[in-house]
Amino acid sequence: MFVLGIETSCDETACAVVQDGRLIHSNIVATSLKEHSKFGGIIPEIASRRQLELIGAVVGSSLERASLTLKDIDAIAVTRSPGLIGSLLVGISYARALSFAAKKPLVDVDHIKAHLYANSLESYPVAGAPKEMPKLPAIGLIVSGGHTNLYLMKSPTDYKLLGQTRDDAAGEAFDKVSRILGLGYPGGPAIDRIAKEGVNNRIRFPQSPMEGTHDFSFSGVKTAVLQYQQKNKVTSKNDLAQIAYSFQDSVVSILVKKSIALCLQKKIKTLLIGGGVAANSTLRQKLNEEGEKNRIKIFVPPMSLCLDNAAMIAGAGYHLLKQKKLEIPN
Ligand code: KG4
Ligand code: ZN
Repeated sequence: MFVLGIETSCDETACAVVQDGRLIHSNIVATSLKEHSKFGGIIPEIASRRQLELIGAVVGSSLERASLTLKDIDAIAVTRSPGLIGSLLVGISYARALSFAAKKPLVDVDHIKAHLYANSLESYPVAGAPKEMPKLPAIGLIVSGGHTNLYLMKSPTDYKLLGQTRDDAAGEAFDKVSRILGLGYPGGPAIDRIAKEGVNNRIRFPQSPMEGTHDFSFSGVKTAVLQYQQKNKVTSKNDLAQIAYSFQDSVVSILVKKSIALCLQKKIKTLLIGGGVAANSTLRQKLNEEGEKNRIKIFVPPMSLCLDNAAMIAGAGYHLLKQKKLEIPN
């Protein structure tokens, strides 16, 4: 079964073709990110206009790359929420029109849960042995620009929210701290890069353990960096690297600690990570180290599937389509 996925929740315009919820035949992503960087954040009006300009070409390229036509597609999956309303509407309207015109069933997908699904995908044709797929039940950690959630995932369509951020999302904290330090937007990759030149230094930023809950809080560490910078007015690359290192260490440590603790508490041996912050090199490394120590199998998507993409939407959509009667909208 070939599912065509469409994702337009923010600044990426993406389309992918995925077979049987697993094999990626094409995964095209266009982005207007560069146009937003001078504003220090996404400008919804610019994002939705670019979506409108790009969507037709991106869908066409995706089918071409997969060497398929619309006739070969069995169903369409589209991101329904969360996201910027103008951007979402472009993808949803396009998907509805395509579904109606080509008489293909359409399914709505939750963007956040789909991020975890990125761990169950591999590229077609498969080179070498097939990838090991996550065993469920699993704990899922979503770390993106808008969310920091912990889920108990019993099946590809059954997710129970166990914890979330009480204030800033992890990616949001990276973006805001990057801005405070003058490192640009998006902040995650900038901090990840410069922190590599930092060392385990004497600057310590707080971690909010949120004892007795599976929730997170990142506004404290963000404010601590702001106050430190207001007081010290750091400008040299070396000093900025030390701050970036300590901030990242604080965020990553708490993410790893709480995710592993939840796995141990629930006696679950699989931990899936998803969302843009899953691209963070220190998070990937620390999770793998702690996973090994605690005999928990860690799944982190390849870099290309950490950021917003439509392969995860098509993959997650496949399971929803299998679960319910396929319907053609009118
Ligand atoms: O999942 P995503 O593409 O968009 C949302 O659904 O929000 O995540 C974007 C977020 C941004 O906040 C960005 O700064 C962060 O992911 N990010 C990173 C890294 N790459 C992207 N955060 C930390 N380290 C990275 N290497
Ligand atoms: Zn996302």
